[in-house]
Amino acid sequence: MIKIEEPLKTDVLILGSGIAGLRCALEVARCGLDVIIATKDFPRESNTLYAQGGIAAAVDPDDSPKNHFEDTITAGGGICNEKAVRALVQDGPKRIKELISYGANFDRISGELHLTKEGAHRLNRILHSGDYTGKEIERVLMLKMVSITNIKPLPFMMGIKLWIEDDRCVGAFLLDVEAESILPIKCRAVMLATGGAGRVFQESTNPSIATGDGMVIALEAGLKMANLEFVQFHPTALHLKDAPRFLLSESMRGEGAYLRNLNGERFMAKYDDRMELASRDIVARAIVKELKVTKAPHVFLDLRHLDSDFIRKRFPTIYATCLSYGLDITKEMIPVHPAAHYIMGGVKTDTYGRTSLKGVYAAGEVACTGVHGANRLASNSLLEGLVFGYRAGRAIVKDYLPLSKKSPVVLDTSFNEVEIKIVNELRRQIATLMWQACGIVRNGSELENLFLELLNIEAIFGKEPFERRRRETWNMIQLGKAIAQCAIYRTESRGAHFREDFPFKDDLRWKRETIFVKKGKEYNFIKEEKDKLL
Ligand code: SIN
Repeated sequence: MIKIEEPLKTDVLILGSGIAGLRCALEVARCGLDVIIATKDFPRESNTLYAQGGIAAAVDPDDSPKNHFEDTITAGGGICNEKAVRALVQDGPKRIKELISYGANFDRISGELHLTKEGAHRLNRILHSGDYTGKEIERVLMLKMVSITNIKPLPFMMGIKLWIEDDRCVGAFLLDVEAESILPIKCRAVMLATGGAGRVFQESTNPSIATGDGMVIALEAGLKMANLEFVQFHPTALHLKDAPRFLLSESMRGEGAYLRNLNGERFMAKYDDRMELASRDIVARAIVKELKVTKAPHVFLDLRHLDSDFIRKRFPTIYATCLSYGLDITKEMIPVHPAAHYIMGGVKTDTYGRTSLKGVYAAGEVACTGVHGANRLASNSLLEGLVFGYRAGRAIVKDYLPLSKKSPVVLDTSFNEVEIKIVNELRRQIATLMWQACGIVRNGSELENLFLELLNIEAIFGKEPFERRRRETWNMIQLGKAIAQCAIYRTESRGAHFREDFPFKDDLRWKRETIFVKKGKEYNFIKEEKDKLL
């Protein structure tokens, strides 16, 4: 059993401190509400911090929200939520202007914003700060946050459960990862902004914190979830022995880098007229085909034809990181392989971050607004976090739900002690199984087996654990099972979800989001007429 502390009270509890959580915090604090931002690690440790390429928005006079809308819809494989995409592209330029007014330094040439290109954008519309755009955005939002007295960061506190009374969320339970006790927080609104879950897969560009914690909190509380089968595999992660799967930004291809196979051929022409700048699902699958044909462990990203000073200046982080592994990217080709990068699905929300449970809001990668459909357009994710973080903040202020007068519900905090050595091995096994059976190419029987294997691993835990590493691993199991269920359910191929046993798009049956709620052990898929997009 683990100790439960006396509850704290605040107006708004935000779980997560990436772009969505921070932008939401600024909005609710500006309106006078007290905010706690809880993070399981240091406050700046988020997926946002590692975003390289940039943030897309129609800020160029030759561009328009309409163009951005069309590119987003085309990349999304026919199932984007058009209302959400409209909100994204129309609000985007305003929110970016604000970021600049907070001090965000995006690259400029002769005073004008430098806009770069990435896959499936018809125009250059990506603002960036070198190749460390997320770090720059996190810097200014953090600076702004610490200047506001009614925002209180609570580091090393991991959200584990919603506190629900009478069909409404009135707070949440946090695991104090250092004291190993539980802190209930009573509030008017809980905002999930915990980011993604790339670490559920063996090959991933994500930092180690990305274990899907917020998605599992919602899943286990029976909130509506959507589109979890759509996992984006970034085509180019560094593939060197003993090096982490470091992201090699798509903007490298945007600035002219080529993809070559083991034989040195520029192969993308075989797969798409847009070549290296086709959408990510197409490029990732093309790489997998080339690997099969050439029997190679990786393909190459080639920048050798670009000016070396330009490379060093434009991609300082990537240049330095590769050099630290003995690879000079101005002179040598870079071995690359696709890796899990982003989950298009998550906690289903409306266009103001409201979820199916009153009192719970979500934005950023943890949420599914539907803007990305089956395949996210590059650099739309930071924009989504910014736009919908703000919009969720507006909704929280508008709804202004009352604080509960009751004491927290009683939690069963007994758990089975699983040795940490075993936990680490299970974590490795889960990620390997997910990568092998639920990666870029899937089929029904392997997915069914995967689900059973995950059930076996879950049985080793027996009960839900209350310690950070164990809890993350348990979350990986819960999310893995849900992703597998969604991938089994969608018997077609669309966007990032490719089933070799159903290799074609089936608009008649599947031009719709995958929506489900988990009830006990059951995954109940819902076919709502209003969600049907055809
Ligand atoms: C990248 O820099 O390639 C990542 C950008 C994104 O995921 O949108």
